Amino acid sequence: MASRSILRASSQALRSVTTAPIRTGKPSALAAAASFHTTRALFDGKNGSSNSQKNNQLPPVPLPAPMRASQSSILRRRTLASFSLEGKTSVVTGGARGLGLVMGQGLVISGANLAIVDMNKEEAERQATELINLYRKENPGATRVPKVTAHFADVSDADSVQGCIEGIIAEHGKIDSLVTSAGFTENYDAINYPIDRMRKLWNVNVDGTFLFAISVAKHLMERKAAGSMVFIGSMSGSIVNVPQPQAPYNAAKAAVRHMASSLAVEWAHAGIRVNCISPGYMLTALTQKILDDNPDLKRQWTSLIPQGKMGQPVDLMGPVTFLLSDASQYVTGADLRVDGGYTVT
Ligand SMILES: NC(=O)c1ccc[n+]([C@@H]2O[C@H](COP(=O)([O-])OP(=O)(O)OC[C@H]3O[C@@H](n4cnc5c(N)ncnc54)[C@H](O)[C@@H]3O)[C@@H](O)[C@H]2O)c1
Repeated sequence: MASRSILRASSQALRSVTTAPIRTGKPSALAAAASFHTTRALFDGKNGSSNSQKNNQLPPVPLPAPMRASQSSILRRRTLASFSLEGKTSVVTGGARGLGLVMGQGLVISGANLAIVDMNKEEAERQATELINLYRKENPGATRVPKVTAHFADVSDADSVQGCIEGIIAEHGKIDSLVTSAGFTENYDAINYPIDRMRKLWNVNVDGTFLFAISVAKHLMERKAAGSMVFIGSMSGSIVNVPQPQAPYNAAKAAVRHMASSLAVEWAHAGIRVNCISPGYMLTALTQKILDDNPDLKRQWTSLIPQGKMGQPVDLMGPVTFLLSDASQYVTGADLRVDGGYTVT
């Protein structure tokens, strides 16, 4: 009980810091801080020219531990063979940046070929090249270098998704697994939430997940091949974050989680597994910069997390690899929360 009242007091303090700017619906620096991954400006540019990319000169995403996949290092680091993604082709939407980028890196380290899908194709291309270069550098004797490609799609547009899937199949020959990480949040009080923004949010987070899932499922069913999908939800789909007001996002992420369970049941007969990963507060390049500028805010947020720290994007590498690999072949319809214990308090 004592810890709950400390948390409540702390979130009240945070609300008083951020409420005023958020209520205007025009995010100031503090309102942006309360939005832990606002990508509002992305929708101003269609292809490779997002304003958020231009305006926020973010530091590069820190690269994960060395991508050693040479045979000698596999022998040194024994693990179950069923965790390997060798020979599989994975698609990651929203893969040019943030969590999607780091999860894609994890899949490549685990042996997969990768198709990075993003509205920002220029960045996706840059990251694909960087990923291959790093792999070559870390694995000078490697006999096989994974294939990493970049593709444009607006996940909320059915034609764009279909064209993208066809492009991936043309380059890779097949798709085995999917991670849907394209998504964003915005903070407005519900009564002031512009309806066009609410629709856009649902289009990207919910429709975008559905459109990619059904396109990949059709492809798998045509091939009569088993496959695995991971939808990136959020702990916001199970709890209500404080103090930032984001009702449509929370509801959208609850929809994503339940869509994963529903499709898991519907497609189990075809050997297609569908699971959800629900991250808590993660330190991406964007949130890192915001919190570096607002150390009090960081203290307040972390006080709500039992592990006492925000997550790192690399914390998602293991969970996503597990769920896409044969190591989880009897796991479907699950929601794996990666939140430092936030949702169980
Ligand atoms: N960062 C967090 O703390 C956190 C916590 C919980 C859940 N999430 C979820 O994780 C996912 C990734 O978040 P992030 O922090 O990495 O965000 P991010 O903004 O860093 O990256 C999102 C990527 O998605 C792309 N994208 C956005 N809209 C798109 C569209 N319509 N079509 C194609 N690509 C599009 C962007 O270009 C960008 O590269 C989101 O679904 C988010 O809701 C994030």
